[in-house]
Amino acid sequence: MIESLGLTKTFSEFTAVKDLSFKVEPGEIYGLLGPNGSGKSTTMKMLLGLLRPTSGTARIAGHDIINDVVAAKRVMGYVPEEPVLPERLTGWEFINYVADIWRMPRGSQRQQDIEELLTLLDISDASNDLIETYSKGMSRKISLVAALVHRPKILILDEVQAGIDPRGAATIKEILNGLRSKGATILMSTHILEIAEELCVRIGIIKDGSMIAEGTMDELRMMAEGQRNLEEIFLALTGGPDMQRIAQYLRGSGESS
Ligand SMILES: Nc1ncnc2c1ncn2[C@@H]1O[C@H](COP(=O)(O)OP(=O)(O)O)[C@@H](O)[C@H]1O
Ligand SMILES: [Mg+2]
Repeated sequence: MIESLGLTKTFSEFTAVKDLSFKVEPGEIYGLLGPNGSGKSTTMKMLLGLLRPTSGTARIAGHDIINDVVAAKRVMGYVPEEPVLPERLTGWEFINYVADIWRMPRGSQRQQDIEELLTLLDISDASNDLIETYSKGMSRKISLVAALVHRPKILILDEVQAGIDPRGAATIKEILNGLRSKGATILMSTHILEIAEELCVRIGIIKDGSMIAEGTMDELRMMAEGQRNLEEIFLALTGGPDMQRIAQYLRGSGESS
């Protein structure tokens, strides 16, 4: 289980995350949604023990992220928004390096598990190429393999589907659903609202660092007064495009020839 207990993060004067509390149960995929800069990645980094909260705390599978951060980190897998990868290693070397860090026994079982994940995500053929040659989508896929390799029961995925091809996105969806049904706790952020709608049991929408709506699709639909899909709900709650300004801009750009 993930329990965010009043997490708050202030960068000098600016409060990026304000008193944020929510829970993700085992067997649940929770979608954290919100406009750019609303505090999703900052929240995730605090949950991961990578960024110290200004106040509040969180419990990861019962482990406090401030007093018991090592135990908390051990049960989590994380795909960052912008994975920083060792460019001079091959995909295969990188994943084995990660498996070594987790002290996974070297042997045929481990090799088989890794090969299976690489094949599932269509990057097996590239596994002997240097990571510096990988496309953005491939980098994200190898980062997902790295996050899954020690079979964590808690997954934190920051826009993992961004830049992934449709087959990859469908594969990730199946993997996450499979892990969820086996009891994994999954927190993910995404701007692809269709994915959130299909995958997430519950959704939290944050804006300016605060939770402005939380619930199942049905509950959110009621909050946004009967809007049908998540895009309409999201725009109703966080604000849609400024049509007046857009029209003004388009007028200024004149007739196209
Ligand atoms: N290290 C930092 N120093 C100062 N401001 C930061 C830092 N990290 C994030 N922020 C600010 O905090 C806000 C939330 O950022 P972030 O959590 O990355 O948003 P999101 O992931 O929802 O797009 C943004 O305004 C961002 O500029
Ligand atoms: Mg982010």
